[in-house]
Amino acid sequence: MDSLWKCFPNPLQVVKFLVLVSAVVCVIGRVECRKSRILEGSSDVFEYSAISCRGHSASIEEFGGVGDGRTLNTKAFQEAVNQLSQYASEGGAQLYVPAGKWLTGSFNLTSHFTLYLHKDAVLLASQDIGSWPVVDPLPSYGHGRDAAGGRYISLLFGTNLTDVVITGDNGTIDGQGALWWQQFHKKKLKFTRPYLIEIMHSDTVQISNLTLVNSPSWNVHPVYSSNIIIQGITIIAPITSPNTDGINPDSCTNTRIEDSYIVSGDDCIAVKSGWDEYGISYGMPTKQLLIRRLTCISPYSAAIALGSEMSGGIQDVRAQDIVAINTESGVRIKTAVGRGGFVKDIYVKGMKLQTMKWVFWMTGNYGSHADNHYDPHALPAIQGINYRDVVADDVKMAARLEGISGDPFTGICIANVTIGMAQKAKKYPWTCADVEGIASGVVPTPCASLPDQGPEKVGMCDFPQENLEIENVELRSCSYQIRY
Ligand SMILES: *[C@@H]1O[C@H](CO)[C@@H](O)[C@H](O)[C@H]1NC(C)=O
Ligand SMILES: *[C@@H]1O[C@H](CO)[C@@H](O)[C@H](O)[C@H]1NC(C)=O
Ligand SMILES: *[C@@H]1O[C@H](CO)[C@@H](O)[C@H](O)[C@H]1NC(C)=O
Ligand SMILES: *[C@@H]1O[C@H](CO)[C@@H](O)[C@H](O)[C@H]1NC(C)=O
Ligand SMILES: *[C@@H]1O[C@H](CO)[C@@H](O)[C@H](O)[C@H]1NC(C)=O
Repeated sequence: MDSLWKCFPNPLQVVKFLVLVSAVVCVIGRVECRKSRILEGSSDVFEYSAISCRGHSASIEEFGGVGDGRTLNTKAFQEAVNQLSQYASEGGAQLYVPAGKWLTGSFNLTSHFTLYLHKDAVLLASQDIGSWPVVDPLPSYGHGRDAAGGRYISLLFGTNLTDVVITGDNGTIDGQGALWWQQFHKKKLKFTRPYLIEIMHSDTVQISNLTLVNSPSWNVHPVYSSNIIIQGITIIAPITSPNTDGINPDSCTNTRIEDSYIVSGDDCIAVKSGWDEYGISYGMPTKQLLIRRLTCISPYSAAIALGSEMSGGIQDVRAQDIVAINTESGVRIKTAVGRGGFVKDIYVKGMKLQTMKWVFWMTGNYGSHADNHYDPHALPAIQGINYRDVVADDVKMAARLEGISGDPFTGICIANVTIGMAQKAKKYPWTCADVEGIASGVVPTPCASLPDQGPEKVGMCDFPQENLEIENVELRSCSYQIRY
């Protein structure tokens, strides 16, 4: 009995367990619980990999959650997180969300905490816009992205945390974004739309094996954080939906994004670090970022964008094994006078692209300022941009590279690239202005500002040999048992 009591925080649950009601009564974590399986009943073991396994586990149903798609569960979720936070010093706790449709407003996560969604669990974001709390704009942005002032808090929010896992057996988070997109287009929103997941000022974060659909705006936004693993995420939003960026690492260090599939109305991955004078003064770069095995479909945006908000700087980004289909551009750099900051040491190796407008696109005059107080002398430094081993087909224009007059983008290296042009391709496959670099083994022939170094230099563009620290982080295999 002792171990039973450890698993069930209140006597009512023990009674329920003993009479073995057919509904799911609880999730049992830990070995000592398993030993206490003295009663009949079916159970399932489930396993997954995570940065940490938890000593305690409880189901949202124990906190009064109802997965009928109609009952609002915001309080149940917040109560569950608050209660489970007491286990932080004992290795933390897991909140299990069983099959069902769990309507909820935003709730905050805690440290040493895992949110786990069953494969048939759907978190449905509340459509009651008036009930979404509003938080301050990000200091590195100064303003909300949709409107000056505050931002609706994200559906899952966490700040100043350590050791947080949001995962599942490919369970779903449905932002029910259509209403937000409509209100945004009609200019009826007073504040910036919410994201699905935002993790701020945090360390050691895992977001994995989930499907995110119809976010009101960006999907996953780690900001001012470090040591982040994002793995096995499917993101789906209509290709015309506004600003439904997939994953946006923003002023983050040591991040690994892998094995993900994204179809969306904006950039599949957008690397950011603050906006104009606000981003310059906050001064927090995104660096040591690895993106690998990404598949992207985004007809109106990039597979990977660097910027346009990059005022804190972007450095040491490695992208490997990127597939994009029917996407506007492959890797795009977006910046403007007034941004300041830098984009440097960018390494791209291995892209397979099909049906694209531009393979390479650099935009020095993106505009889109936070306000009119930006410093016209704050010029971004774009240097050391390496692209190699790219095959593309059905492409309208190979590249459109536009730096800034008086502030050229330098150190561009493009090698081993074969681009098959579309039937209705543009007349000139390359246009270049205010850029400097070199090329080797590139078809069709690049513009004169990227002089060919000869075929023997086809392997010349850098890609670092040594791993980033985050690549060496191994996930642990965690196993839990659920009873029915
Ligand atoms: C995600 O799912 C895949 C395939 O089912 C599995 O191989 C992988 O280990 C899972 N990752 C995590 C972090 O659970
Ligand atoms: C969640 O965190 C935000 C930001 O710290 C805070 O404004 C809000 O009150 C928190 N919500 C709850 C329910 O604690
Ligand atoms: C969260 O961390 C940031 C950065 O370290 C700090 O400025 C802020 O005061 C912290 N907030 C809370 C609520 O602890
Ligand atoms: C997860 O679910 C999505 C949506 O149903 C599906 O497209 C994707 O293939 C699934 N991923 C895995 C690893 O099963
Ligand atoms: C050129 O790129 C292809 C992939 O597109 C790769 O298989 C090949 O090894 C690369 N060649 C060199 C010399 O790196």
